[in-house]
Parts: sequence; C-alpha cells; structure tokens
Amino acid sequence: MKEIEYILKLDHAGGYGAINIYSAQLLIARLFYKDIVFKLEEMLSPEREHYKTFNNLLLARSTRPFSTIKFWAEQCETSLLYKPIFFMVKRSTEFAIWLPKKL
Ligand SMILES: [Fe+2]
Repeated sequence: MKEIEYILKLDHAGGYGAINIYSAQLLIARLFYKDIVFKLEEMLSPEREHYKTFNNLLLARSTRPFSTIKFWAEQCETSLLYKPIFFMVKRSTEFAIWLPKKL
C-alpha cells in the first residue's frame, strides 16, 4: 500500500512539475517563439488532467503530496524564465562593449 501511495505522490509531483515547465515555456514562447505556442498548449492540456487525476487519487486516500513539489516547480520556473532573459542581456552587453571598439 505504501508503494502505491509513493507512486501516486511521485506522479502527482511530476504532473505539477510538467505544468510549471510548460507554463514557463509558454510565457517565453508567446514573446519570442510564437510558432510553437500551439504545440506547447497542446502538451500542457493533458498534463493538467493528469495532475487533477493524481490530486483526486491522493485526496481519496487522505495522502498528502510531497511537501517539496512547490519548491521544485519554482526552481524549474525560475531557471526557464530567467535563463533566456539573462542570455539576451548578456549578449546585448557583449555587443555594446564590442561596438565602440569597431567604430
Ligand atoms: Fe503527465
């Protein structure tokens, strides 16, 4: 029984993580990669259903989800959101430093 609950908690956390990953990717895609927005929305939709299913199964068994899932999702979200922005700022700064030398 404990193994089943552990697997449900794991799948629940995986669904939660997937929702956050796709949501963060969608935010960036809506700004810079509009051609993949539809595909990402298509992939996000079933993940929401999976999450709901595992959430309901945990509730039915009075089992608490992993307490670290929100922390894990925040890490994914932060890295997915800030890496592309950081990269663009870094590139533009490099360009700005390079520009006066060439003039
Ligand atoms: Fe899933």
